[in-house]
Amino acid sequence: MSEAARSAGSQSAGRGGRELPRGVRVLSGVQPSGALHLGNYFGALRQHVALQEGNEATYFVADYHSMTSVREAKERRGLVRDVALDYLALGLDPTRAILYRQSDLPEVAELTWILLTVTPMGLLERCHAYKEKIAQGLSADAGLFAYPVLQAADILIHRADIVPVGQDQKQHIEVTRDIAIKFNNTYGKVFRVPEPYILEDVATVPGTDGQKMSKSYDNTIEIFAPEKALRKQIMGVVTDSTPVEDPKDPEGSILFELWSLFADEAERDKMAERFRAGGLGYGEVKKDLVERVFHHFAAARERRAELARNPETVEGILRDGVRRARETASDVLEAARRASGLGEAR
Ligand code: ADP
Ligand code: TRP
Repeated sequence: MSEAARSAGSQSAGRGGRELPRGVRVLSGVQPSGALHLGNYFGALRQHVALQEGNEATYFVADYHSMTSVREAKERRGLVRDVALDYLALGLDPTRAILYRQSDLPEVAELTWILLTVTPMGLLERCHAYKEKIAQGLSADAGLFAYPVLQAADILIHRADIVPVGQDQKQHIEVTRDIAIKFNNTYGKVFRVPEPYILEDVATVPGTDGQKMSKSYDNTIEIFAPEKALRKQIMGVVTDSTPVEDPKDPEGSILFELWSLFADEAERDKMAERFRAGGLGYGEVKKDLVERVFHHFAAARERRAELARNPETVEGILRDGVRRARETASDVLEAARRASGLGEAR
């Protein structure tokens, strides 16, 4: 961990109880790839929002990255707008943290090229997104192959100390570190070498079918689904066929686990007791879960609707975000250009 991260103060993160770093530069990106769900919220967004407290936090919507999967201009714009709305509605405070749209900072694309020239092929061949595609017999384009280098540029251009990401992204942060070190060894020290901040103490949120909740598995409970859709998603949570009157085991129950995300410890103990005592129907718990999810995100939902009615406000926030992000980004890019002998000698 960087000196800054090590010496930083801390504060409890709530669920999971982990101490949050303080006084560091935080950077993370989110791919705009569909409606956000409870897994994204508890596993990433909620912690991104918590990290804006006492740190220099920057978050961006990774629309350049989405080009490796989404091939429709209109769809991309819609997805970017949704992620921005979700973040702002869920508590990202643009007066504290920076929120910007990746493609508004084309400096990262230039830095990507510079970094590509010091990135060994073997490093990228080992990366899982590319490897998985090839293993499935699909042909990958060069963009997908170079995806981790674009991610490295995102991180290095902000002089990030820590990058909060899920376990699945750890490899990309390691690649970023390797590339930064390689460049620094080749041309002199330009880049700060970042640390991953793995959000792993947060248990994986199960989907309605018990697998990890994920857009790709069609098993999500969406944060901002309309009430009817939310009800449908929650009513679809898989339960066993124990009759109402029989005792039930809360351990290993997907429904109990999901319900517990919206309850405090005392409520959880009480519900576990009711499971064990028998006489509790799963339908009742599901109905209560619908209420709780709806209630939990009610204020955020209102904020989101309000922002959605004012697209100019959101655009203004993104414009201000990129202006602030550029202050560091243009310095770092200029330092990389100078160190590697690009542009006019100065
Ligand atoms: P998806 O699997 O739905 O495509 P992403 O890969 O876009 O989700 O996830 C973005 C981030 O949200 C991940 O890096 C991870 O931190 C978090 N996340 C996603 N699904 C879950 C889950 N089921 N439980 C906990 N965290 C999750
Ligand atoms: N690849 C990340 C994901 O799929 C998104 C991302 C792009 C990112 N650039 C980043 C995350 C920089 C952290 C830092 O979740």
